[in-house]
Amino acid sequence: MTETVAATDFFDRDAAAREILTQNDRGGYTVPTDGLYPYQWNWDSAFASLGFAEFDLDRAWQEIETLFTGQWDSGMVPHIIFHKPDPGYFPGPDVWGCNGPIASSGITQPPVALSFATRLLAADPEAGKARFAALYPKMRKWAEWFLKWRRDEKGAIFVIHPWESGRDNAPDWDDAMSKIDPQDVGYYERRDTQHVDASMRPTKYDYDRYIWLVQRAKALDWDDAKVAEDNPFKVADPTMHFILMRGLRDLLAAGEAQDLDTGDMAAQLAELEAGAQALWNPGMGFYDSYNCNNGIWSNALSNASFLCWFGGLDAPQMEQHLARVLDAAPYGVPSLAPFDPRFDAKRYWRGPTWGMMNMMIGEGASERGVALGEEVRKRTREVIGRYGFVEYFDPMTGAAAGGKAFTWTAAVWLAWAGKEG
Ligand code: GLC
Repeated sequence: MTETVAATDFFDRDAAAREILTQNDRGGYTVPTDGLYPYQWNWDSAFASLGFAEFDLDRAWQEIETLFTGQWDSGMVPHIIFHKPDPGYFPGPDVWGCNGPIASSGITQPPVALSFATRLLAADPEAGKARFAALYPKMRKWAEWFLKWRRDEKGAIFVIHPWESGRDNAPDWDDAMSKIDPQDVGYYERRDTQHVDASMRPTKYDYDRYIWLVQRAKALDWDDAKVAEDNPFKVADPTMHFILMRGLRDLLAAGEAQDLDTGDMAAQLAELEAGAQALWNPGMGFYDSYNCNNGIWSNALSNASFLCWFGGLDAPQMEQHLARVLDAAPYGVPSLAPFDPRFDAKRYWRGPTWGMMNMMIGEGASERGVALGEEVRKRTREVIGRYGFVEYFDPMTGAAAGGKAFTWTAAVWLAWAGKEG
């Protein structure tokens, strides 16, 4: 890449990023983007809070506090919270049929909020002390829920729906998805393709299976044990595993510093660290997902594979993979390595670059002394700086893709990518 974004432009971009957060604010929570995603999404909100923390720390705390108002008795924090009805979205509350404290979906999402709450605390420990302490038992309960209901016998954290991982149509799910026969799913009308070009969205094949999985769990009344049992979709996922590891580590450190009850967290963290070995694909030589029902690896070098550093592992073997991927794709770490035959530069989690994944990869790598971490930040800054705060980017051309005026892309700009290195 030869062109670079002029330093003087960044002031405007900072203001534009703040404007997006403000416009997507619905009062205590932020929507990922207007129209396509009109509710509070779990990990989007966590990123939003980091963006708000750059100019309004009180509002940043509120984002996470509102997220936890949707927490179920079990400890699960839903992936979507339907605060106010919006008929423009499918699948809405009636399809999910859940009975948490607020209408919500019945699955969760990667728990980045655990880590990010500790950053809000660090930003102003005096102002955040009481708010952090109030959230602490709730956050611990969510982490414990994962360990109880989403851990396989090898110690890896699994997902029971592609949406739970947050990487909706990644190739990681292909094997498990092929085992689902969605014949009885019935008629439904998608809304996402009314907002965004269908070639950039998951296919009907995928969508039928997404809805089938929701219907199956709803019929089981969202009972955690029953939903996991005999589920054709149970995939051990590096996204969840590494992000939970990071969350527990950050919570433990902050809890000790604040003199809070950290319970068994140290032992839980050690178990997760040991469990991370289960995600090492020895044939391919990288971190990978696998189908828990048959042990089949995805053989997918994805952006989740590179979350190992964010999770706190020293993973020197992953550096050469990162170098190869960055050589092949000029605009940030793509969701799938471009040399994988399943790569599709514009289709969501099968190729595009996502700013928030790049942030976790770049930051994590830099923290562990991997020099390429800074290169990831520079490229993310370049692609967002040039093409805007869109949902994701074509990793080969940088072209903007998906929805516009996206909360987490704006937040990633403010909290990380747009900062002078
Ligand atoms: C899509 C993404 C998911 C995100 C949601 C809202 O479903 O795959 O990760 O949370 O949109 O932005």
